[in-house]
Amino acid sequence: MSQSYETLLVERRERVALITINRPEKRNALNIQTREEGAAALDALRDEENIRVVVITGAGDKAFIAGADIAEFANRTAVTQRDMMLGRSLFTAIDTFPKPVIAMVNGYCLGGGCELALACDMRIASETASFGQPEINLGIIPGGGGTQRLTRLIGEGKAMELILTGDIIDAQTAFMLGLVNAVVPAADLEAKTMEIANRISEKSPIALRMAKEGVKTAARANLDEGLRREVDLFALCFSSEDKDEGVRAFLEKRKPEFKGK
Ligand code: COA
Repeated sequence: MSQSYETLLVERRERVALITINRPEKRNALNIQTREEGAAALDALRDEENIRVVVITGAGDKAFIAGADIAEFANRTAVTQRDMMLGRSLFTAIDTFPKPVIAMVNGYCLGGGCELALACDMRIASETASFGQPEINLGIIPGGGGTQRLTRLIGEGKAMELILTGDIIDAQTAFMLGLVNAVVPAADLEAKTMEIANRISEKSPIALRMAKEGVKTAARANLDEGLRREVDLFALCFSSEDKDEGVRAFLEKRKPEFKGK
């Protein structure tokens, strides 16, 4: 069940899996191998019933992820780059992962790192974290969803500003823009993120899955389609034992025990 990877570590802490991108000497830049191993790790965790939430972070105290591995751009042709991006994407794997994924942002969160965080369901940042889409400085643009997900999350004006200037913003500014859910002192980052992840991990995994799909639909469908989808997802919860348990536990004034059935 436990695989080992060269560029990342996967730790299981009760119902929460912690994936650590482990290239601190390269500020955890995403090279091809890291992307492939990240997608493989998610594949394995998808089927593990005991794992209810995934947290992603970067090794060391400097960077969450400093972006795509720029060294790999040097000799890449347009066709190779396009094929690679149209192939299996780590960002899409996170976006469509059937369990909540939380980014624990402990430092530089730039370019593809910011896009990875944007593909996650929540972002918790340390006070020392910083965010940006600096691709414009390399003569390119965000290609992992930055122009789309950032715009949907913080609005066109601010997304445009960040993407056109390549400016780096601090965690507090990111919080004010709605880019991150919470900012905490660096020493508290892991405890705070794990506290949130553990709390979510006690909910019904079926309801979590439906909830994630519902919220994700809001960015993809018009209001009528989205509301219709929500009704289907809501009704699907009624086919679960977890719904019976949740309602029964409320009526019996006790804590529910969700089994994911
Ligand atoms: N791709 C490849 N290598 C990267 C990288 C990236 N995105 N970000 C950092 N590195 C490498 C550096 O080349 C350096 O490698 P070396 O020791 O072999 O020379 C190492 O990581 C440390 O980087 P350094 O710049 O010395 O660290 P720093 O702490 O002073 O600065 C950053 C950190 C993140 C501000 C700086 O590395 C940076 O600007 N990185 C690029 C960010 C970027 O443009 N991302 C978008 C990519 S599309």
